[in-house]
Amino acid sequence: MRTDTPLTIYRKDYTAPSYLVDTVELGFDLDPARTIVANRLTMRRNPASAQREIELYGEDIELVALRLNGKALGKREYRLDGNLLRIPNAPEEVTLEIETLCAPEKNTALSGLYVSNGNFITQCEAEGFRRITFFPDRPDVMAKYTVMLRADKERYPVLLSNGNLVDEGMLPDGRHYAKWEDPFLKPSYLFALVAAKLVCQEEKFKLADGREALLQVWVEEGNLDKTDYAMQSLKKSIRWDEERFGLELDLDRFMIVATGDFNMGAMENKGLNIFNTKYVLANPRVATDIDFQGIEAVVGHEYFHNWTGNRVTCRDWFQLSLKEGLTVFRDQEFSGDMIGTSTGRAVNRIDQVRTLRAAQFPEDAGPMAHPVRPDSFVEINNFYTVTVYEKGAEVVRMYQTLLGREGFRKGMDLYFERHDGQAVECDDFRRAMADANDRNLDQFERWYSQAGTPVVRAQMRYDEQQHAVELTLSQSCPATPGQPEKLPFHIPVAVGLVGRDGRDIPLVIDDQERGTTTVLELTGAEQTFRFTSVPQQPVPSILRDFSAPVVLEYDYSDEDLLHLFSHDSDPVNRWEAGQRLAMERLLRLTEDVTAGSRLQLDDTFIEAMRKVLTDESLGPAFREQALLLPTESMIAEQTDVVHPLSIHMARQFVRSSIGNRLRAELLAAYDANQTPGQYSPDAESIGKRALKNLALGYLAAASDDEGIALAERQFDEADNMTDRAAALGALVHARAPAAQRALQGFYDEFEKEALVVDKWFAMQASSPSTDVAAVRELMKHPAFTMKNPNRARSLVFNFCMANPVQFHVPDGSGYAFWAEQVMALDALNPQVAARLARAMDRWRRYAPALQAHMKQALKQVNGLKKLSNDVREVVSKALA
Ligand code: ARG
Ligand code: ZN
Repeated sequence: MRTDTPLTIYRKDYTAPSYLVDTVELGFDLDPARTIVANRLTMRRNPASAQREIELYGEDIELVALRLNGKALGKREYRLDGNLLRIPNAPEEVTLEIETLCAPEKNTALSGLYVSNGNFITQCEAEGFRRITFFPDRPDVMAKYTVMLRADKERYPVLLSNGNLVDEGMLPDGRHYAKWEDPFLKPSYLFALVAAKLVCQEEKFKLADGREALLQVWVEEGNLDKTDYAMQSLKKSIRWDEERFGLELDLDRFMIVATGDFNMGAMENKGLNIFNTKYVLANPRVATDIDFQGIEAVVGHEYFHNWTGNRVTCRDWFQLSLKEGLTVFRDQEFSGDMIGTSTGRAVNRIDQVRTLRAAQFPEDAGPMAHPVRPDSFVEINNFYTVTVYEKGAEVVRMYQTLLGREGFRKGMDLYFERHDGQAVECDDFRRAMADANDRNLDQFERWYSQAGTPVVRAQMRYDEQQHAVELTLSQSCPATPGQPEKLPFHIPVAVGLVGRDGRDIPLVIDDQERGTTTVLELTGAEQTFRFTSVPQQPVPSILRDFSAPVVLEYDYSDEDLLHLFSHDSDPVNRWEAGQRLAMERLLRLTEDVTAGSRLQLDDTFIEAMRKVLTDESLGPAFREQALLLPTESMIAEQTDVVHPLSIHMARQFVRSSIGNRLRAELLAAYDANQTPGQYSPDAESIGKRALKNLALGYLAAASDDEGIALAERQFDEADNMTDRAAALGALVHARAPAAQRALQGFYDEFEKEALVVDKWFAMQASSPSTDVAAVRELMKHPAFTMKNPNRARSLVFNFCMANPVQFHVPDGSGYAFWAEQVMALDALNPQVAARLARAMDRWRRYAPALQAHMKQALKQVNGLKKLSNDVREVVSKALA
């Protein structure tokens, strides 16, 4: 585990693999305590490499036998240092036979081959395959796999791997076997096997070219009442990729397997996607609207990887965003298209902007900031980040904004034409986009190489005589670790001008009509754009649809913002105007709390909220977003010295003020947005429930008891989890007397549903009434275990990351708790521990007294001799 300074790997040091692998034959004798893996590889020297040694990786496995071209290798004929096995002087063409042993039941890291609730599961991305067998475990080595699985038939009736089932039967010793063959070349990180007691929902589905594919969703017994939505989502995904990108399923069989023990969300193994149960299992009784949306998005995401990730994969792990940024963009577009309506799409987009601001902007401003295509890492698992995924998706979206939908499609077509079956780089994607559209996208490369969130500053000057608007845009980007200076980015800035009547003014630049929204391309440090034929001074609507992942600065007056909030034809900027109004007030109130001044909220703001709440022309989903305040972490990012308690009190004050002063309107919205009849997770019903439950939350935060009574009633009468959980959350967060009874009832009812028990823990962990001592008590609950990542996340992570008031108590006990849990988790599961470690990322921004405690906790963890590289990288970078 521990080396004093863990090794940093650099992108610039990339070298081609010394040997290529043509075929892999794997034989598994599956046993939880002692699994035997026989691996037969045919390899040949790579003409593109000067290196002559065979290099194989292996981790936490025991080498039993090694044969080269039929002959056992003696101890002097190979070297095994740490995780690297080297065979020098190997001939041009070799057949390697490797036998190893591993102990899946002891694998608590959940990387490689492990046991989950008695079932065998694998997770190989990024470097888990080397925990199964010795192999050139790097994504640019692609091979054809044949897999033989042997196991006890009673305990493991289902035996699955990638590709097609070619044989199955009984063995003389009473066990059974299954043989699978994957017709496609793949890197080792896409290998998977499942040996388990599972049941499936299956269906034959007709593909665009007339072929039929078998679709299966595999779950543990008792969960077949929760697989419908995943199956529907899979079918929608297949259709969508055919229609939008002309990409077809290339297999006769496509399987999804759900497991309760999983480090991340899901994994796109070829033909055998393995999912966290959280992104498969749903029915109205146990899953919320957000869960349903998550399933659609993640099923889509993993399916879309079949082309963007599997058919064309990454040359090395620095290129991770090549597949992840692109595939997130694709799943976002898919979700948008499934909603269909333009406001529905906008609400979807607003959600993306919120995630970016709440999670990615802080990452990009903190000690772990890295470019979308990182230059170095210690542990690749630490780089499955919001930057690589969500900012990466924004970067892909910007191609579409610059080139148009058709141009983007042309670029995609060329990308597949050039690179199908290859392992390539982010630059290859950019070149395909540029070449297909005959555009120069050289400067665009900086989105991949420079970290940090660019700041775009805008200034407008209106010329009364000339009837012209001059919009000056300038850009800068803060320093990030290892990158003190930044060069200008190529930024698409979508702009409109809103007239006094609230209507968009037709845009004219250089005598050219440009519609009512136009994309300006900011490439220099500062540029001025001149619009003519502007009859009166407009209010500029800048960065429409959030056309680039930047911070926009413009000195809007309250009047401007109110105007945009009522009229902007771009719903994202309409929402944005409301967020600016709210943020300004939240920041001022935060200061007032700290200073001990009296808190006051102006009528202007309340009236703006009233107007949007009662505007029936706006859909409920949009109104909910417009009324939702920036999160506490978003407010924290805007303040110089973070006082978590002040932020919380300020935000609570605004919430209760809305609850008190808009009481009648909130009650009316509550009544008007009921969704009687059968539950359905369609966008319209989801929007209604969201608005209704937001109203409930505000009413419960108000000073009288009517909101609480309403929440109690809803909790007792709700027939779906969305309304149930929202009511319980409102009771818990308002510290209502009924909260305890409700929590107990909820647990008793759902104790057998692991994902609901997670919600139960999460709700308490994030409640400001739950202090460190209470979390420690909850950890003693029989249902709590650190070994299950979902459970650890529900309680420990939520406390450290979503309960700022209690986590940041002045005595530092929250941080001491954090250190303890990071260390405990690290001994079990380094990947998950390193995620928790990141709760301290922004420690330097807190008030000095808190900082001192945080630093001490970080040092305590970093001082541990036995620490994984995963956690070591995070805490040492935080302290650097
Ligand atoms: N490729 C997967 C996805 O985004 C993520 C798997 C990452 N797993 C890991 N242990 N780093 O769909
Ligand atoms: Zn992915």
